[in-house]
Amino acid sequence: MPARSLRRLLLGWLLAPLLILLALGTLGTVYIARGVAHDAYDKELLDPMLALAQHIVIMGGQPTFNLTPAARDLLLVDAYDNIYYQLSAAHARPIGNLYLPVPAGIGDRALFYDASFSGREIRVAALRIALPDNTSAVLQVAETLNKRDSHMIKILLGMLAPALAIALAAVLLVWFGIRRGLAPLENLQTELAARSHRDLRPVPENHAPEEVRPLVVSLNALLRRLNEAQASQQRFLANAAHQLRTPLAGLQTQVELALRGHLPEHLRPTLAHLHASTVRTAHLANQLLTLARAEPGALPPDAMQRLDLCNLVENAAHEWVPRALEKKLDLGFDMTPAWLVGEPLLLRELLANLIDNALRYTPAGGNITVRCGDLNGVFLEVEDNGIGIPAAAIAKVCERFYRVEGSPGDGCGLGLAIVEEIARIHDATLDISAPDTGRGTLIRLRFPQTHVFSST
Ligand SMILES: Nc1ncnc2c1ncn2[C@@H]1O[C@H](COP(=O)(O)OP(=O)(O)O)[C@@H](O)[C@H]1O
Ligand SMILES: [Mg+2]
Repeated sequence: MPARSLRRLLLGWLLAPLLILLALGTLGTVYIARGVAHDAYDKELLDPMLALAQHIVIMGGQPTFNLTPAARDLLLVDAYDNIYYQLSAAHARPIGNLYLPVPAGIGDRALFYDASFSGREIRVAALRIALPDNTSAVLQVAETLNKRDSHMIKILLGMLAPALAIALAAVLLVWFGIRRGLAPLENLQTELAARSHRDLRPVPENHAPEEVRPLVVSLNALLRRLNEAQASQQRFLANAAHQLRTPLAGLQTQVELALRGHLPEHLRPTLAHLHASTVRTAHLANQLLTLARAEPGALPPDAMQRLDLCNLVENAAHEWVPRALEKKLDLGFDMTPAWLVGEPLLLRELLANLIDNALRYTPAGGNITVRCGDLNGVFLEVEDNGIGIPAAAIAKVCERFYRVEGSPGDGCGLGLAIVEEIARIHDATLDISAPDTGRGTLIRLRFPQTHVFSST
């Protein structure tokens, strides 16, 4: 069965019975209102009837009315309705302006009934009366239904208007009730939609209404399983990379030893090639391990500590200076204290990857500057005036294993992916651009205020 809107479903279930009840109620009301209107006006119809009865005389053996036109008008004219009458005696022609058959069995109690006359609905009262000559005749008085109809409509409106108002109020209440009831679900939806695929934290369960809670509980269970699956995948990657490192290091040492010893000359290029491949593979294993360690959830809870970036850079600089000298690059530092809460080993990896890139992708004679400080928040920058990253590639360089086509060297494409992960762990924003000079690359990290502690 296709999914249906809860709101429409409930409204449907409410509206259909409501409408049926309303229709039945209207029918009932019409029936009752008609009865009430008849009761009220039937009695009034007796007045002209009794008045007419008193004006019957016998003339030439025939009953007739001795009424002046004025008296007749007074008796028979009504502000709202037409009044008709007819007197039917046994052996005489009926007199009056109402031409209706006389119902059988009329006695001396008035009989009221509905009929139609010259195309209109009328209400008739019939009564047998005694004539002055001791015979009897049936007197019928009828009136059109204008008064009764308007009376009935008033009653109908009086009863239906509140019923309609109640029905409308019920519909509105249900509509808003469902809206309110569903609001927590909508909040849940917004919260989930705003999340990144890495954010597998459980959803708060106590905000959800009771009926929705099982859903949220199951969702959280699923998130937990996903989290575990991701963690186990991460552990697998870290273990695999770790397991690879030892034999690769051994291999590298063996090849280096061989290269240093006596060697048939024709084997030397092959071994040199083998050495380069081994170094490259060992680097890849190291990068994979770093990446696995930098993934969310891989960090032990107490790993973050208060540290000064300035210090961190100074302690690691000796690793890069020889490479810079070798490549005739000017590696400069422009640093002021920059305290933050971070994971020192990961931050060092981040820096190592940025500087490694700058060293790799800046031709001899170029400049590399590392800056850090605290200017409206802690920042870290690595700027070079090397080959630069093509604008079209900037969005992709942080993808795992992505390398700009034709990039020199034998990188594996994980460096900036690692930088991005480590930045994410520190809630830092990573910005890759070209320096103002237009040449080279400027990579800037801004750490959030919440992680910044004053050094005093
Ligand atoms: N400082 C830089 N100057 C020029 N290009 C860079 C720089 N840093 C990164 N890149 C480009 O971004 C790509 C991805 O970098 P990275 O993830 O470190 O991978 P790798 O260095 O292993 O190729 C590199 O292939 C390179 O083309
Ligand atoms: Mg790199």
